[in-house]
Amino acid sequence: MRELLIASTNEGKLKEIAHLFKGLPLKCVSIADIRAEGDVEEVGETFEGNALLKALIWGKRRGMLTLADDSGLEVDALGGRPGVYSARYPGKDWPDRRKNLLKEMAHVPNNKRTARFRAVIVIYDPKDDKTRICTGVTEGTITHEDIGTNGFGYDPIFRFTDSGKTGGEMELEEKNKISHRGRAVVKARDILLAEFA
Ligand code: IMP
Repeated sequence: MRELLIASTNEGKLKEIAHLFKGLPLKCVSIADIRAEGDVEEVGETFEGNALLKALIWGKRRGMLTLADDSGLEVDALGGRPGVYSARYPGKDWPDRRKNLLKEMAHVPNNKRTARFRAVIVIYDPKDDKTRICTGVTEGTITHEDIGTNGFGYDPIFRFTDSGKTGGEMELEEKNKISHRGRAVVKARDILLAEFA
């Protein structure tokens, strides 16, 4: 069975991706399992740029079929921030980052609290030196407080329009069906099945 390197160490994301790739005839290995060279710094200004960078660097380093993703939260009232800087929003931990974002949004009325999660997945095969790009978007609104304890990152303060629930209130299966990453991963899965399985 061919191996697929998942270029992420984020446990929340790895869990979601592994769940969606169940049954795929590829052996998934994450860089958390083989962590030797250290992470690739996300220096790009777009999700696509960062995902491409990670997929190319890890794919070439390891000579393996590689999948990398970049994702984040775009808040309309903040002009699209934190965007590619989502993982680096100020705060000492995730509850603190969410609190700071809500503080920044304190003056924003309910009808202006629209936001979206965006994910870009890049599959890179060093054998043919080609990349495949898949994107996924999901719309929602920013709550006024943490709601629910599931998920990771901004999940408890993002209410998904498609379910009416925050990511903190949804089980993985439910979130994967409507999430940005879920949508991008389903596209990636189809490509992997058609071209590499
Ligand atoms: P990166 O893709 O590892 O650069 O990180 C993106 C950041 O966006 C994550 O650390 C999370 O904070 C946030 N993010 C991306 N997807 C989700 C999600 O599904 N739920 C909550 N936060 C997310």
